[in-house]
Amino acid sequence: MSKSKIELDPNQYIVSKTDTKGIITYVNDYFMKISGYTQSEMIGQPHNIIRHPDMPRVMFKLLWKNISAGKDMHAVIKNRAKNGKYYWVFTAFDIHYDKDNNIDGYTAYRRGVNNRTIKKIGKLYSKLLEIEEQEGTKASEKYLKKFLDKKDMSYDQYVWSLISHNKSSSKFFAKMKKLFG
Ligand SMILES: Cc1cc2nc3c(=O)[nH]c(=O)nc-3n(C[C@H](O)[C@H](O)[C@H](O)COP(=O)(O)O)c2cc1C
Repeated sequence: MSKSKIELDPNQYIVSKTDTKGIITYVNDYFMKISGYTQSEMIGQPHNIIRHPDMPRVMFKLLWKNISAGKDMHAVIKNRAKNGKYYWVFTAFDIHYDKDNNIDGYTAYRRGVNNRTIKKIGKLYSKLLEIEEQEGTKASEKYLKKFLDKKDMSYDQYVWSLISHNKSSSKFFAKMKKLFG
């Protein structure tokens, strides 16, 4: 199985939607192209089918804690394609509500990130994974909290600080919401 990196097209975006449990309900064409899965292989599946084993569990714990509480969330995630190759993405999560104001699904908008960001966040994730393997998720959660406290930032703020060189990001997400939201 190949372990090489997939380079993303800076003009293309990876979009998926899920229900409240993370079951995939929609994928765009570029997601199918990059992941190597067909639409029928993805719709109805849990979103962890693209989970990369290098991703620490604590990041998904944080992700679900935020989005299920209706909080804004942005994350840098390493994903795995069907052929074993990997790709890194900056992801913004959008939360959808039904007419009674209950959460009824989520959308994720993703774009590529540069090597500088990958290097920085990759170092943090490796450390978190190492701690998780040795001492469990509680310990990695503690490390992450300390890491962010030292920077006086939330994870969301940290992620934005890493990608802030990309001024078009906020414009991009407004556009994506209009197209897919
Ligand atoms: C809208 C949405 C998009 C998601 N996108 C990804 C993704 O790109 N990669 C990923 O590994 N997990 C993603 N997740 C999180 C997965 O649902 C899952 O929590 C994660 O893969 C870890 O797997 P686990 O919860 O079975 O441990 C997403 C969740 C939601 C709600």
